[in-house]
Amino acid sequence: MDRSLSKLTVAFPADEGSTSRSYPIYTGHGILSMIGPVASELHIPERIIIITDANIENLYAGHVYSALLNFGFRPEIISIPAGEKHKTLDTVRFVYDKMHDAGCGRDTAVIAVGGGVVGDLAGFVAATYHRGIPFVQVPTTLLAQVDSSVGGKVGVNLPYGKNLVGAFYQPRFVFIDTKTLITLSQRELRSGMAEVIKYGTILDGELFEMIAGVIDSLLIPDINLYSDIIERCCALKASVVERDERESGYREILNFGHTVGHAIEALTGYSTLTHGEAITYGMMAETHTSVNHCGLPKEEAHRLCSLLLRLSPPPLPDTIDDEQIYLAMFNDKKVRSGVLRFSLINKIGDAAFGESPEPHYVKQSVRKLFTIYKDECEY
Ligand code: GLY
Repeated sequence: MDRSLSKLTVAFPADEGSTSRSYPIYTGHGILSMIGPVASELHIPERIIIITDANIENLYAGHVYSALLNFGFRPEIISIPAGEKHKTLDTVRFVYDKMHDAGCGRDTAVIAVGGGVVGDLAGFVAATYHRGIPFVQVPTTLLAQVDSSVGGKVGVNLPYGKNLVGAFYQPRFVFIDTKTLITLSQRELRSGMAEVIKYGTILDGELFEMIAGVIDSLLIPDINLYSDIIERCCALKASVVERDERESGYREILNFGHTVGHAIEALTGYSTLTHGEAITYGMMAETHTSVNHCGLPKEEAHRLCSLLLRLSPPPLPDTIDDEQIYLAMFNDKKVRSGVLRFSLINKIGDAAFGESPEPHYVKQSVRKLFTIYKDECEY
């Protein structure tokens, strides 16, 4: 496998009073050792804090540390506990204190090495420490590589709602080493695949068909196939965030499955289901709503839901019910004047945003989740 870097650029047009901005996303296989020259070329300060978690520290953060040290940087590692339940303001405070004790000032950069939790939290630290310092994303999970590392959404959860504190803060660059997928568990791979299916469903019917055709082999990572999928998803995401960086409308399409999914995550303490599993359920429910509200053909809904079931999310815990999920959705950031708003599907490959279906349809869709394995996506 060659160690060349492919490059894609996220470019924001100039608006009144600001100049255009852009940053590169590099992808390649076995490229972690090449991060030093890229960081140097993009003027990342010499002093670097690598934020990682207890699982990734020994697997990959050490490689990034050595690669930077060998290139003349002064890196240091701060490790946080692994898992979505630690994506909190308490963990942010823990990192601020460590950075203060280490004498970090504005001449410091933060590099996130890990999955979505690490990237979101490290990005929030970078956005706020001393009012903002340079930030780099080195995503090591499929989910972070296809979605969360691109687009600048950073933040943490509150007990009652997901990502309720945060900022839009773009990285200086994103560095994706597909070799890191080799150590991912099946569960992590399936979670990432949920976001890939989302991209196909909302924006790219051809990608959806491709995934539907190879889903079984995809669950055993074939790096060439994964590289193509990752680059395709990053390009799709770039095209959305370039058009609406701060989610004033269009970017909401990326939230398909997330209104219900985030409610499930909050209700289960961010610890029972992974983000990918929660949005797998979220997409199944919102597919059902799309049939009733947007006229998504039943046959397409059935195909989509069946594909999502192939990801085999664990059953929903019996500590939560449909009524609780429905009420928890009102903490979603898309709610306006107390009305739920969703991103839904017109047809596979075409999404709508800002949709407010009849509450009756929404409740029915959530109720269906509790029998989905039994009913096998009948509509
Ligand atoms: N993950 C959805 C977004 O970045 O907008």
